[in-house]
Amino acid sequence: MVMFGITGDLAKRKLLPAIYDLANRGLLSPSFSLVGVGRRNWSHEDMVEYVKECVQNAARTPWREPMWEQLAAGMRFVTFENFEDDEAYERLAKVLNDLDETRGTHGNRAFYLSIPPNWFPAVTERVARCGLIDESPGSWRRVIIEKPFGHDQESARELDRLVARIVRPDDVFRVDHYLGKETVQNILALRFANTIFEPLWNSSYVDHVQITMAEDIGIGTRAGYYDSIGTARDVIQNHLLQLLALTAMEEPTSLDAAAVRSEKEKVLDCVRLGKDLSLTTARGRYGSGFQGGVKVRSYLEEDGVPGESTTETFAALRLTVENRRWAGVPFYLRAGKRLARRVTEIAVVFKQPPFLPFSSAATAGMGNNTIVIRVQPDEGITLRFGSKVPGTHMELRDVSMDFGYGASFNEESPEAYERLILDALLGDAPLFPHQREVDLSWRILDPVIEHWSQQGAPQTYRPGSWGPQSAIDLLARDNRVWRRS
Ligand code: BG6
Repeated sequence: MVMFGITGDLAKRKLLPAIYDLANRGLLSPSFSLVGVGRRNWSHEDMVEYVKECVQNAARTPWREPMWEQLAAGMRFVTFENFEDDEAYERLAKVLNDLDETRGTHGNRAFYLSIPPNWFPAVTERVARCGLIDESPGSWRRVIIEKPFGHDQESARELDRLVARIVRPDDVFRVDHYLGKETVQNILALRFANTIFEPLWNSSYVDHVQITMAEDIGIGTRAGYYDSIGTARDVIQNHLLQLLALTAMEEPTSLDAAAVRSEKEKVLDCVRLGKDLSLTTARGRYGSGFQGGVKVRSYLEEDGVPGESTTETFAALRLTVENRRWAGVPFYLRAGKRLARRVTEIAVVFKQPPFLPFSSAATAGMGNNTIVIRVQPDEGITLRFGSKVPGTHMELRDVSMDFGYGASFNEESPEAYERLILDALLGDAPLFPHQREVDLSWRILDPVIEHWSQQGAPQTYRPGSWGPQSAIDLLARDNRVWRRS
């Protein structure tokens, strides 16, 4: 694996620990080699030291010296003055050929581009020009790219054309790390391995669906990236729309990449926005205040955020899926930073029964039946339904039935990146979004972003709250409320 951006934040926190964890679980070939590419003037040993520190800080599995030594023996670093440094690509080619001979990597190469997308053209062109991507008989070459896949539909298409010039579509792996999460893969198991849920999973029984991705942290030191992106592009275009697609899709004929994608694409293709985007979308940005008793800065006060910024740190949308199964069922999506707590969940909220043989006083404490897929933290599924309160009266109240991964399974879930890196190395594609899914997601989002660009600054919300008033109003217009996660 050749990693562009090995000194970046993602590599440090996720990719390098995941590689070690995979090796430690015996899932990487002993000949696996990691070539880091970066601007630092490092020797191979410097890189080994750096990776060791990252692994020791963030790996999930225990430290095992012999394992580490085997992995470290296959690490190399190639200094790039910049990504247009032609001569550096020649050196990279030499290092790779050398590894083929000394480690037995057999010409198999995965290029992991964990770098800002504006560098993709320079890198991909040179990688191609130096023959690094040309397959030799019996070997494979793959490109793994991190989001953002463009900043709108047009730029995403442009990026795709660029990558397609050097590598076959099946050899491009676009990472949406949400798809690597166990709880997200479990949506397919819940829906298609069981009998009891699927008959209810449609507009006859479902009132609406709420998909929430809340984070309690601010943007930290990521202003450079975040301010040009905002919440909608950062997580709705990819993670939340993928969650919607998995929740709403029809049963695939198999779990092959092509079959799953095709069902997800059909759903994304029939997602519609509301007519008046002022009423069916909301956006906000966090102000200053206290969160968990700690004083926090407003978004505008974060380091590197320009004073005239209008970037949102919270976004909510009301979408509909115009097909037979979902007609008339709104899907509400919301995501934001500095919210009350960290939680990602999908709540499928069912309709009220058509008739209740109880007094209205008896059912006053009851809400709608709900299935909550708890993506994180506290991974699991909750079923909310009404039950009789013990006593002489018939009084009903909501209760929960819980499945928790921690309680039901002994083994800890692997990190999303472990699964994704392994799948990319194996050439197994079901968990990677296809270009058409990316394209369809931008089709949904582009008009919203265009609309917001004419609305000035987003509404301010209090840190530690659940977002701006406009998000509450969005549901109130439909006589609904956001679920208290
Ligand atoms: C990333 C976003 O895709 O997901 C970040 O760029 C966000 O802004 C992160 O913080 C959250 O990931 P997770 O796995 O912690 O929910």
